[in-house]
Amino acid sequence: MDISVIGLGKLGSPMAAIMASKGHRVIGVDYNETFVADLKAGRAPVEEPDLQDLIHQAQGNLDATTRYDDAIARSTATFIIVPTPSVENGEFTNDYVIQTLEAIGQALRNKTEDHLVVVTSTVMPGSSSQTLIPVLEQASGRRIGEGLGYCYSPEFIALGSVVHDLLNPDFILMGESDPAAGDWLESIYKSVCDNDPPIARMALVNAELTKISVNAYVTMKISFANMLADVCDRLPGANVDEVTAGLGLDRRIGRHYLKGAMAFGGPCFPRDNRAFGVVADRIGARADLPRSSDLLNQYQSQRMNDIVGRLAPSGCTVAVLGLSYKPHTYVIEESASLRLIEDLHGNGHKVMAHDPMALDNAREALGDQAEYTADIADALAEASVVILATPWPQYRDIDPSLLAGKKVIDCWRMLDDSEYAGHCELHHLGAGILA
Ligand SMILES: NC(=O)c1ccc[n+]([C@@H]2O[C@H](COP(=O)([O-])OP(=O)(O)OC[C@H]3O[C@@H](n4cnc5c(N)ncnc54)[C@H](O)[C@@H]3O)[C@@H](O)[C@H]2O)c1
Repeated sequence: MDISVIGLGKLGSPMAAIMASKGHRVIGVDYNETFVADLKAGRAPVEEPDLQDLIHQAQGNLDATTRYDDAIARSTATFIIVPTPSVENGEFTNDYVIQTLEAIGQALRNKTEDHLVVVTSTVMPGSSSQTLIPVLEQASGRRIGEGLGYCYSPEFIALGSVVHDLLNPDFILMGESDPAAGDWLESIYKSVCDNDPPIARMALVNAELTKISVNAYVTMKISFANMLADVCDRLPGANVDEVTAGLGLDRRIGRHYLKGAMAFGGPCFPRDNRAFGVVADRIGARADLPRSSDLLNQYQSQRMNDIVGRLAPSGCTVAVLGLSYKPHTYVIEESASLRLIEDLHGNGHKVMAHDPMALDNAREALGDQAEYTADIADALAEASVVILATPWPQYRDIDPSLLAGKKVIDCWRMLDDSEYAGHCELHHLGAGILA
C-alpha cells in the first residue's frame, strides 16, 4: 500500500520505517528539514534501538519530503503523528493536528481516489468528532464516509522499545468513522504486526477515552505500588517485593507495573493522567483516582529526600545514577531523577549525576544543580550516598569496590545482597529503610 506518515519524530520515524520494512511504499513528511534529509539519506532522524537497522531494511520503500501535496499524491492512507502538547490546565492542544489536517485536506482536493486519514497523536476525548473531522471535511471539500475514511488509532509504546512495541502490541485500539475505514486500517495493522494482537474497534470518542484511560489506570497501579513501598519502608520487617508478588498473583490485579520504586514520568503517563482529570471536570464527573495517583507521584521525591536525610547529613555528596525517565532513552521529560536532584540540591547536597544517554538533556534542564559525568567511577568517587534511580542494566554490574563504604539506596532492587552487602551499606527501597 502507499502510505504517508506526517511527523517523523520519536514515534513517527519508527512507524514509517516499520511499515516500509513490511513492504509498503512509505513517504514521511516533516517540516524539520534535517529529519527529512536524514530519512532520505537512510539515517535515523531520532535515536531509538533497532530503528537504524529497519531503515536499512526499508531502503527503496522509504522516502521523505517537506511537501504535503507530494506525499498525499503518492499515498492512499495517511498517518498523523505530530505533537499535541499539554497546556497549563492539563489539556492537550490540537493545533499541530489541525494544521496537518488542513494541509492534507488541501492536497486531497487534487485527488479523486479514496483516502484514509488516521490520527495517531494523542487527542482529548471528543476531538475527532467535534473538531478534527470538520476541519478535514472543510479543507478537502469531501465528506467522511464518501471515499474519505477517518480513524483515531493511538499507539502504546515506551521510548527505548518503540520498534518492538509497535511490532508486538498487546492490542490495537481503533476508533473509526465508519466500518469501511476501520476495515482498511485493520488490514494495514495485520500486514505490519509480528504478533496477532486483538483489535478493539469502536466509536471515535471511545477510542480517545480508552487511550488516556489505559495510562490513567497504569499510573494508578504504579502509585499504588509506590505507596506500598513507602509503607514497607516504615513497617518493621516488611518488604514491598514480597507484598506485590503476592498481590500480582490475583488475576483481578496482575503483576505488571506493580513494582514499588520511583515516581512515574515520561512524555505520556503524567500528562494522560492529568488530561483524564480535565475531561471529567469539564463534564461534571469525578476523577479522584487519577488525581490521587498524581499526588502520590509528586510525593515520591520528598520520600526519597526523607530517606537520604535519615542516612546522611545535609551537605554530603549524593550520586544519582540514572537521569532518563526510563532506561534506553535520552528523554528526561518529567523524569523522577530530575525532581529528586532539584530537591537534593535544595536541601544542601552536592549531587553527582550519571546517565548513559541523558546527560546532555539533564545538564540543559538542571544547570549547576548537579555535576555531570559519563564515568560511573567519577560519579561515585566523592559520594557518601548513592541512589540507583533509573534501572539501566549496566548498573547491575557496578564494580562493588567502587561502592566501598558508601550508603547505597537501590530503588529497583538491582544489586544482590550476596555480592554487594559486604562492600557497602546496601538499602533496598521498600524494605524497611525508615523502620
Ligand atoms: N513519544 C511517546 O512516547 C509517545 C507515546 C504515545 C503517544 N505519543 C503521542 O504521539 C504524538 C507525537 O509524539 P512524538 O513523541 O513522536 O513527538 P515528537 O516531537 O518526537 O515528533 C513530532 C514530529 O512532528 C513534526 N511536526 C510537527 N508539526 C508538524 C506539521 N504540521 N507537519 C509536519 N510535521 C510536523 C515535528 O517536527 C516532529 O518531528 C503526540 O501526540 C504524543 O502524545 C507519543
